[in-house]
Parts: sequence; structure tokens; C-alpha cells
Amino acid sequence: MKKLSVSILGTGFVGLCSAVCFAHRGIKVIASTHNEEKANLINQGIAPFYEVELEEILKEVVNRNDGNFKCLVGRKQAILDTDISMIIVGTPMGEDKRIDLTLMEKAAKEIGEVLRMKENYHLTVVRSTVIPGTTRNLVGDTIQKISGKELGKDFGLCMQPEFLAEGRSIKDTFYPDRIVIGEFDKKSGDILQELYESFYGDHLKKAPILRINLESAELVKYGNNCLLATKISYANEFANLAELVPGVDVVQVMKGVGLDYRICERFLGAGVGFGGSCFPKDINAIKAFAQSKGYDPRLLNAVLAINDDQAIHIVDLAENTLNNLSNKKIALLGLAFKPGTDDMRQAPSIRIINELKRRNASNIIGYDPKAKESAREVLGNKIQYANNIEELLKDADCAIITTEWDEFKILKPSKFIRLMKNPFVIDGRRIFSFEEFDKELTFRAIGRVALK
Ligand code: UGA
Repeated sequence: MKKLSVSILGTGFVGLCSAVCFAHRGIKVIASTHNEEKANLINQGIAPFYEVELEEILKEVVNRNDGNFKCLVGRKQAILDTDISMIIVGTPMGEDKRIDLTLMEKAAKEIGEVLRMKENYHLTVVRSTVIPGTTRNLVGDTIQKISGKELGKDFGLCMQPEFLAEGRSIKDTFYPDRIVIGEFDKKSGDILQELYESFYGDHLKKAPILRINLESAELVKYGNNCLLATKISYANEFANLAELVPGVDVVQVMKGVGLDYRICERFLGAGVGFGGSCFPKDINAIKAFAQSKGYDPRLLNAVLAINDDQAIHIVDLAENTLNNLSNKKIALLGLAFKPGTDDMRQAPSIRIINELKRRNASNIIGYDPKAKESAREVLGNKIQYANNIEELLKDADCAIITTEWDEFKILKPSKFIRLMKNPFVIDGRRIFSFEEFDKELTFRAIGRVALK
């Protein structure tokens, strides 16, 4: 049987990781982008952004030179020369916080134009996160209208939500928990299942394939991200409750809660709140979608409100100890929205910095092992940037843990005492032993107040 080939429209985290992983296991892949500089980098085996393990695998598939991987500028040839096109473009949050489907529509138009001249049956798979109805009504209809071909007869349509998390994109792509296939019709789903049977082989014994309709698949993705974000806000709500009772520790509480097999302890980590390119965007998108249908999603409103308040709470902790923030050096350990990435999108550090500024803090300095350049692009001269932990902490009045990088976890109280003007640490990610730090310096932590 002929192996199916795939074109990938979009070369962000999900697009590029999927492309290199497919090619790594012998599937012919043509990635495509409109950005010539990006395509050049990719074809030389250089990842255009930082992601754990990505560059190693990209280099390997490029160096194999077996014809299974290339990245083209423009999409026409990529669609024409493959059996399946996966649309993996950004669906960002617009200024009104609704989903912006401009790139999705553009990709559907491009597929429609190519299918007009293509004779063979072609399958389009939407893998970006999109609000229910988008795959059928925007993508399907656009391709049908522009190509003049008939959906179901001349071309197929699937929606396959993607669950990979940044910092583990490659691992998640090779070893997912499950594959959700939303299908327009059985033929479309069968083709996508055939691709994944050849890609995953035995792993499918551990990762079931769930075949459902297009709209349900679209909503699975929101259901997933909103529940994970809800768990985090739930943990943060309990962190606030824990702080009302000296001695209670939210970490221990959530451990106890998470040991219930129906709940599980993952994503019950209280702290500075969630960020990234997905949770805030997706909750806002589905919220706007619900409201456009006349439904007010009260739970999701609360999840967002609790998340925003964590940044305010962190700054309260700083101000309560320092009184006046205006003449104090405040050091942020970590700027990226989570470790393992240089991504600054919706990072909690940005909310904390904005709140510090609002309360007249003028001497803010940040250090991040990977995100210095991306942080500078977002924050400009709102803060200063240290090159290492020593420079960051030197003469500081307050140190705030904003991202739980491994290199911060091994820090001891003595280092803060030696370098800082006033050793005062706020653990916004609960990476330090409360007992050890509280004994040696002024210490505040999300979800725990000392028994004194
Ligand atoms: C998230 C989901 O985890 C993926 O399954 C999904 O595919 C992806 O969004 C997406 O929609 O594309 P990601 O945003 O990369 O992945 O990162 P997460 O690891 O989920 O972390 C999100 C935020 O939650 C981070 O700011 C992290 O620090 C925060 N978080 C996570 C907590 O504050 N507490 C926790 O216990 C866990």
C-alpha cells in the first residue's frame, strides 16, 4: 500500500514538531511557510524557535537527505504533491479577545485554489484550535466554494485537536495519550486513522483513537484546556484559603486532594497563575463564543479572574513587607511563561511587572535562562535584564520566583543572604522548602503562612 504523504501548513510549535516527527518515522512531509527566512533556517536544520529536542530531530531529518522532509516557501506545491494537508496555523486572540481566524481562512482558500487543479482526492485536517463550527462552515465551505469540488466526494475533512504542551512538544507528539479524530464522513476519518496507524504502530495500544464528529472534536480541545486551567485556578483559590490559616500548606493540601484517582495531582500547582499562548487565549475564545450564543460561562469567568488576581497578590506580598516599592530593587527569577521555553506570550511575569509598575516600582530586573531576548521584545525597557543569577540578586530588596527553572530550584538561602541588600524571597512557584527558607530569611510563599 502506498504510504500517505502530508503537507503541513504552518511552522509554529505544533506544525514544525509534527512535521519533523512524521519525517523521522519515514512519512513524506512537506512543511510550508510564507516566511522565506524561516524556511531557509528549517532547511538548514536550524529551529526558528527554542523547543526541547526539536533542533536535534530537525537536524537529523534534514541530514538524512532521503526526500522525506523539506520546507517550501508558499503552499501551492506542498498541497499539490501530498495526499493530506494539515492546517496548523495560529488562531490568536484578537483585540476584542475573540478568536482571530484570518490565517485559518487564508489557508482554506489556498487549499481550495490548489484543489481546483488537482484531480486526486485530498484530505484536509484542521489541527489548530478553533471554535465549534469553524472546520465545517469556514474551512469546508471555503474549500468547496473556491475549488468547485464536492466535500465528501472529491475531498475529505477532519478536525484533529492537538494536545502537545510547549517544552515537551516532541515527546507529546511521539507518545500522545489519545488521538481524537473529528470526521466529516467515514472515508475522511479512515484515511487519517491509516496515517496514524503507520506513524504510531504499537503505541496505539496505549493511546486510543477516538472518532467523533467535527464539532465535538473542536470542543474537546477547549474542554481539555479549560479544565486544566480550572484545576490551576482551583489550586490558587485554595492557596488563598490556605493563607488564612497559619501553618496550612497548599502544596500538601493539593497532594492529598490529587491522590484521589478521580482527580490526579497534575495541574494542581498553585502559584503566580497560568500563562502561555493557549490557556488565556482559549478560555477567552470559548467565552466569547458562548456569549455570542447568549450563554454566560460563569465558571470560566471565575477561572480567569482568579488567575489575574495572582499577580496582584504577589505584588501585595512584596508591598506588605517593603512598604514602598518605588526605591527598591525587585528581582524576578524567570520571565518565560513556564520552564523549557523562551515563550513570553501571556507570561505571568508580564502581569506582575505591570502591577509593580502601577505601584511605582521603577527598579525591576529580570533573569531568565532562555527568554532574555524574547522578554526584551515584549517588555522593552520596562525592566533591566541580568545575565546571571548573581547580577540579578546583587543588592536586591526582593526576589520573586516567577518561573520554576531547574537552576533556581537548587538555590540555597545562603546565596540570597550573601547577594541581596535585604534577603527577602517570594516563592511564586513553591520550589523551595518552606521550613528551610523561612528559618533563614524573610520568606513569603503562595499558599502558606508561617505558624508564628
Ligand atoms: C497547554 C496544554 O497543557 C496542552 O495540552 C495544549 O495542547 C496546549 O496548551 C495548547 O493548547 O496548545 P502549554 O500552554 O504549552 O500547553 O503549557 P502548560 O504546561 O499546560 O502550562 C500552561 C500554564 O499553566 C503555564 O504558565 C504553567 O506555569 C501553568 N501551570 C501549569 C500552573 O500554574 N500550575 C500547574 O500545576 C500547571
